[in-house]
Formats: sequence, structure tokens, C-alpha cells
Amino acid sequence: MSFNTIEANRRAAQFEDREQLWLFGYGSLIYKAGFDYIERRPASIEGWQRRFWQGSHDHRGTPEAPGRVVTLVEAPGATCMGMAYLITPAVFGYLDHREKNGYLRFSTDMTFADGDHADGLVYIATPQNEAWLGDAPADAIADQIARSQGPSGANRDYLLNLADALRGLDADDAHVFDIETCLRQIEG
Ligand code: SIN
Repeated sequence: MSFNTIEANRRAAQFEDREQLWLFGYGSLIYKAGFDYIERRPASIEGWQRRFWQGSHDHRGTPEAPGRVVTLVEAPGATCMGMAYLITPAVFGYLDHREKNGYLRFSTDMTFADGDHADGLVYIATPQNEAWLGDAPADAIADQIARSQGPSGANRDYLLNLADALRGLDADDAHVFDIETCLRQIEG
């Protein structure tokens, strides 16, 4: 997969003059930081829902056999729970590399558990990116996840870690939990 969003994200940097800023994570960024942060707080964003519709050719699959990872799709009225990290701009070098397979940053309002708000940067992969896989039945998504493996490990671990992390946040996410149920059936 030659598509790489590192340059596009670098050109779009929206934080040259900031000492610190918030990142909102909704997928692996909930359960695996892998970078230094100043503060970490559960948060949510409005109007988006999590979907296993993005191909992973570099982390949880390979170019020949991509896995599936989450992105966000617009859903008026929906709330997406995740984890907010207060970070310095230097961390975006690491994040842009990690999210390079189709994810672009955008800024949106986040709500913390105590009702406070802040702007947060979010990595999102849209249908326009070349690694996009799109919708499929939950059992087909689980089947692809069960078979996929990449440099960051088994795709099933991504799904199960995410489902556990969402339970830890008291997040209601039927899409993720349905795929988890299908995976457990496949694995017997
Ligand atoms: C995120 O976690 O916010 C982006 C998707 C991922 O890296 O799993």
C-alpha cells in the first residue's frame, strides 16, 4: 500500500504555536499510548461512530492480506467514547507515522466526564483513502480479523483489547461488541 498520509498531515499541522494540545483516541489509541503524555482523561465526541471499516496493511495485516481497524463515520446524534491525551506537538511525528495508512487529522470538540470541553485532534480515515474497506456483515469482519496478522501483532488482539478498553470506559458500542461475539464463536 503506497498511500501514506504523513506529508498531508505535516502540511496541515494546526498547532505550530501551541505548547500542548489534546489528542482524542478512539481505537488503539485508547488502550495503547506508546508516547509520552502530560495527562490522560476519558472523553467523548458527538456526531461520530466507530467502525471497523479501515484496512490495516501495516500494523494488523499485510499488503497482501490486510486486517481491519477502526475509523470514524459521521452519525448525527451519536456519541463516541474514547481517551483524550494532553501532549506536546513533538508527539505528532510519532503519531503521524503510526497512523500513516490513510488517517488524516481533524480538530473537533471533546467533552470530558465532568462536562468540561476542549478541542482535540483526531485521526480519521475516510472512504477516499486507498486503504478503505467499508461495511461488511459482523461475521465477515470477524472472520477477516481472525485470519489477519501484521507487524504490530494479531488483528484479534486489536479487537479484543479495544472491546475490553471500551467496557472499562462504560462505552456502549454494539458494532464492536457484535464483532467480538462473532470472533469468539469463530475461535470456539
Ligand atoms: C485511534 O485510535 O484514535 C485511531 C485508530 C487506531 O489507531 O486504532
